[in-house]
Amino acid sequence: MSIAITIVGGGMITHDQILPSIYHLQRLGQVSSLQICALNSPPLKALADAADLKEAFPNMSFQAFPTLSEDPSKLYPDMFKDVIAKMPRHNLVVCATPDHLHYGVIKFALEHDQHVLTVKPLVLKYQQALEIEKLAHSRGLFVGVEYHKRFDVRALEARKSYRAGRFGEFRVGEAKLIEPWYYRHSNFQNWFTCENTDPFTYIGCHYVDLTYFITGLRPTQVSVQGVKGKFPNGNVGYLWSAGRVVFDNGAILSVVNGLGYPDEGAGSNDQGMTFFCETPTGGGLISHNDQFRGVSHSYADGLTQYPFRFVSPDYLRLVPWTGDGLRPTGYGFWSIEANIQTVLQLNQASAASPPDKALALRQSLLERIDRDGILATPANSSINELVVEAARLSITHDGQSARIESGAAGGVRLL
Ligand SMILES: NC(=O)c1ccc[n+]([C@@H]2O[C@H](COP(=O)([O-])OP(=O)(O)OC[C@H]3O[C@@H](n4cnc5c(N)ncnc54)[C@H](O)[C@@H]3O)[C@@H](O)[C@H]2O)c1
Repeated sequence: MSIAITIVGGGMITHDQILPSIYHLQRLGQVSSLQICALNSPPLKALADAADLKEAFPNMSFQAFPTLSEDPSKLYPDMFKDVIAKMPRHNLVVCATPDHLHYGVIKFALEHDQHVLTVKPLVLKYQQALEIEKLAHSRGLFVGVEYHKRFDVRALEARKSYRAGRFGEFRVGEAKLIEPWYYRHSNFQNWFTCENTDPFTYIGCHYVDLTYFITGLRPTQVSVQGVKGKFPNGNVGYLWSAGRVVFDNGAILSVVNGLGYPDEGAGSNDQGMTFFCETPTGGGLISHNDQFRGVSHSYADGLTQYPFRFVSPDYLRLVPWTGDGLRPTGYGFWSIEANIQTVLQLNQASAASPPDKALALRQSLLERIDRDGILATPANSSINELVVEAARLSITHDGQSARIESGAAGGVRLL
């Protein structure tokens, strides 16, 4: 069994993670066909011409909407709707558009009976997450949220040992993720402005999700203070942030984020986390250096401005294998693979049943996936939407604390 996939959005994350992963699964027979929609033709042309993808996936391609030869200046904001509407039901739509468009794309896909995989964040509002959870369940459709750090082996190992009680209970911790300075010169300067987002919302959410994933503790209170600065084009954004998240056992996580890791650094960003835990008789510790993963390369080919690099073998690398080209490896690939295989299993399990039985069967499988909590779904990860809502409320009120209430009438309010 295989599935047809439409990716909506052809930008950086599609190039770096989604497309290489899906090409490989297509090569292995799990994906039957692949379409990609973007706002206009230039990003699609860039994907089709990308030298690294051509080297890794010789002779593989996708169907582009709009076509590659379309006038680059013409915009097609609604073309994804025509493309999705023509897909046979129970295939997969991957949402990789800017954050504020996720809700519209996901809802449209579900209303046309497609399973969904979306990059984080699922949506920008908790109430929208609840709506999507309900809609997907009523139709027996899977919605996965691509929090790939959950598939990092060190996170899975920490979750297993934490839940076996080997560390005791999380009490206090710190996490950081500082993106490179050069982001300030990229397209970020057009949208990463104070009214839209901030470093905690954009990247801090990964470590909050990871804390919840490892410990099962739910955030109850968030405060985030930002440091404003100017982008090269004059736009003002929060360029640094310091957040504090309180969990339902009283534990505290401090989260530092920013756009400013030196371009000259071997990094190429800086990230990691430390959790201090306790039992009645002693201390436990989880400490992950997610920047330096033990591999340094210094390139002598003159192609790189800063040749000494810390190379992460863990997120996504394209490496030699026994077949043609190169294959993706790492938690970026495993995350996409796990989500796609879940869709295949759902379809396979219900394929031989009449429609009403098939729906009930898929719903019970979906409930098990929600309970297992390995794959992030609206039902088991919408605490992240609440955290982001609380963070936005706090940072725009100078760091005042915001309280989180979950449940059907859930929301956030300033303390
Ligand atoms: N670590 C992570 O999980 C991670 C990392 C990077 C990005 N992301 C998320 O991925 C998403 C995309 O980020 P990116 O960096 O690839 O952005 P990008 O700006 O590089 O690409 C966005 C793409 O969306 C397309 N698009 C915009 N409007 C569209 C429309 N109406 N119809 C079809 N396509 C449309 C654009 O053409 C473009 O190809 C964001 O939600 C971002 O938060 C997640």
